[in-house]
Amino acid sequence: QFTPRVFSGIQPSGGLTLGNYLGALKRFVEMQDAGTHECIYCMVDLHAITVWQNPDDLRRQTREAAAAFMAAGVDPARSILFNQSQVPAHAELAWIFNCVARMGWMGRMTQWKDKAGKNSENASLGLFAYPALMAADILAYHATHVPVGEDQKQHLELTRDIAAKFNHDYGVDFFPITEPVIEGPATRVMSLRDGTKKMSKSDPSDMSRINLSDDADTIAQKFRKARTDPEPLPASYAELKDRPEARNLVDIYAALSGRTTDDVMAEHGGAGWGQFKPALADVAVETLAPITGEMTRLLADPGEIDRILGNGAARAREIAAPILDRTHEIVGL
Ligand code: ADP
Ligand code: NA
Repeated sequence: QFTPRVFSGIQPSGGLTLGNYLGALKRFVEMQDAGTHECIYCMVDLHAITVWQNPDDLRRQTREAAAAFMAAGVDPARSILFNQSQVPAHAELAWIFNCVARMGWMGRMTQWKDKAGKNSENASLGLFAYPALMAADILAYHATHVPVGEDQKQHLELTRDIAAKFNHDYGVDFFPITEPVIEGPATRVMSLRDGTKKMSKSDPSDMSRINLSDDADTIAQKFRKARTDPEPLPASYAELKDRPEARNLVDIYAALSGRTTDDVMAEHGGAGWGQFKPALADVAVETLAPITGEMTRLLADPGEIDRILGNGAARAREIAAPILDRTHEIVGL
């Protein structure tokens, strides 16, 4: 009944990180190259402004994120690549979903609790309603599949709840119940300063993350300074169970080199950090340097990036418009 279609987005709220690359961009490219789904990828700038963004930074970061998508291998001729705010259907459908979703559902979201914290009275209303906008992002295209990281699973569950409640309340079978695309192992990259926190573009410490714009020396320095325990690497991966920082570096090595963690341990088990960290920096630079170089090349022509995003938005509007029209009809608008 529904066209196989993938939707996913990244917030242009900072420069993209190695976590975004391994957990999102790399998988977006794999889904595109598999050719099984129509792929729609988005810079979700409307989500970014749920917390304060400097306007000039936001504009620049949106182009940088677009350049990162393309440098990583998203091909705007095969995938639809655009900027969320250029397609009004997202915000329009989000309003309708605000009226479908319940306050209690939103209040239970762990990301809301984490981000709003104890000062929730002072958080934006948009931050609270964020999952209804995410549901609109996905359902405006009748997307059947969403590649989600661990951090977004609960929000996708809420998208499914909104679709089901809408279908039930209006007695229709209109919105698909979107399926998660389960990620492979080791796609949750942790902070280099704290093994219990995910690597994030919004972490205040730049040393906590590898940015896709970092040069080889910076990458080597960040891995050299990455927090670890003093013990050398054990013989097997299982022995890293209670050593989150050490395990994270092994996971990153495996993900970047396309090898299994057992394979990495077979080669590096027993190595001290003075040996392993430079080896890790080498594989990171090998993967990231071509991406960084291509981003720089693309960013030299911002007009061309804007043109590509404009085309993508036009194609996205074409898919979303009839779905929004039909939604209005169903609701009686
Ligand atoms: P960030 O936390 O860096 O602001 P976003 O919330 O914009 O990232 O997430 C964009 C995409 O990148 C999502 O698919 C998310 O699952 C993925 N992602 C973000 N951080 C990581 C990470 N540390 N490890 C793996 N995937 C991540
Ligand atoms: Na985030």
